[in-house]
Amino acid sequence: MRKIDIFDTTLRDGEQSAGINLNTAEKLEIARQLERLGVTVMEAGFPAASPGDQDAVRKIAGTVKNSIVTGLARCNQKDIDAAWEALRVAEQPHIHIFLATSPIHMAYKLKKTPEEVIEASVEAVKYAKKFFPLVQWSAEDGSRTEPDFLARIVTEVVKAGATTVNIPDTVGYATPQDYGAIFKFLKETVPNIDRVKLSAHCHDDLGMATANTLAAIENGADQVEGTINAIGERAGNVGLEEVAVALHIRKDHYNVETGINLKEIKRTSQLVSQLTGVAIQPNKAVTGKNAFAHESGIHQDGMLKNPNTYEIITPELIGDAHTELVLGKHSGRHAFKTRAEEMGFTLEPERLNEAFAEFKKLADRKKVITEADLLVILTDQQIQE
Ligand code: KIV
Ligand code: ZN
Repeated sequence: MRKIDIFDTTLRDGEQSAGINLNTAEKLEIARQLERLGVTVMEAGFPAASPGDQDAVRKIAGTVKNSIVTGLARCNQKDIDAAWEALRVAEQPHIHIFLATSPIHMAYKLKKTPEEVIEASVEAVKYAKKFFPLVQWSAEDGSRTEPDFLARIVTEVVKAGATTVNIPDTVGYATPQDYGAIFKFLKETVPNIDRVKLSAHCHDDLGMATANTLAAIENGADQVEGTINAIGERAGNVGLEEVAVALHIRKDHYNVETGINLKEIKRTSQLVSQLTGVAIQPNKAVTGKNAFAHESGIHQDGMLKNPNTYEIITPELIGDAHTELVLGKHSGRHAFKTRAEEMGFTLEPERLNEAFAEFKKLADRKKVITEADLLVILTDQQIQE
């Protein structure tokens, strides 16, 4: 089965979310958990950005042994030197250098010609290769780059010695069809492309990050990048928990493996939420509080007869406690009776009908029916038996 490397950037792109600031101890704790999760590569920070980030990357590089640790750098010697200072202690030193390649970024942000962008990228890759055995180069805003230029610059960085080439959808603009086509095109056009890993990096501005990442895999990507809980710049990066679970559940379709220890997903998600202070939306795929909660009577009845009716992922798969049948105004008698029995009440049919009617009346007035509410209703009926 084809192996897809998982590149986690929670500690770099994820930390770039507005309002998130992790200190070294917090970064280390997340890094240890990412190692348990089984990510192939973790991007620990941007060493040239601040002494604090450089220190955090150094500590993580010296601690983590089972995942490759990397740091971000622009295409200049100062950034690459700062990254080397932090990463020289790593088991397999890896650097991630990037430069923008789209017309708008080259003209307005970099004020460089396409030729100058090629030259700066090639020089940076060659310089980085003096220190690092593993050099990833990224074409920032790659999905909005003119395809022939993208193929030319990728050809040059591969010749210069890059070991991974990443094509980010930096502003989340691509559709799955667009993004998949870029990978297919590069695979068909760039000489020796099979000597390097091709990587996908998706942002979620139009809500298509997961679909785009999966499209890249279908079209030859060897590595996918993202964050835990989909945190990141603006609308965030792709959520790695979604990608890993989608690839597992739809193995029949994708036929790849990631090496991710799925049982660590819930724990990782909770740790990242707790330390970043960013709550997980209740209906978030895979890790949201409601991902395994069923409220309507028809669904609850189906779940009680056979969980496969409404649950394609089991909570145990991601290390979550259990499925929850939430009692609310849409719930049915079957779930109500089951809960009553779990609470130790086996009522006569007539009393159960009464209790169910009382429960429905209360559910019309109250959004959340608590255990205490149920206890009052059921005890009332038990007394009358
Ligand atoms: O989104 C992006 O383009 C990035 C690069 C730095 C790789 O995060
Ligand atoms: Zn990014």
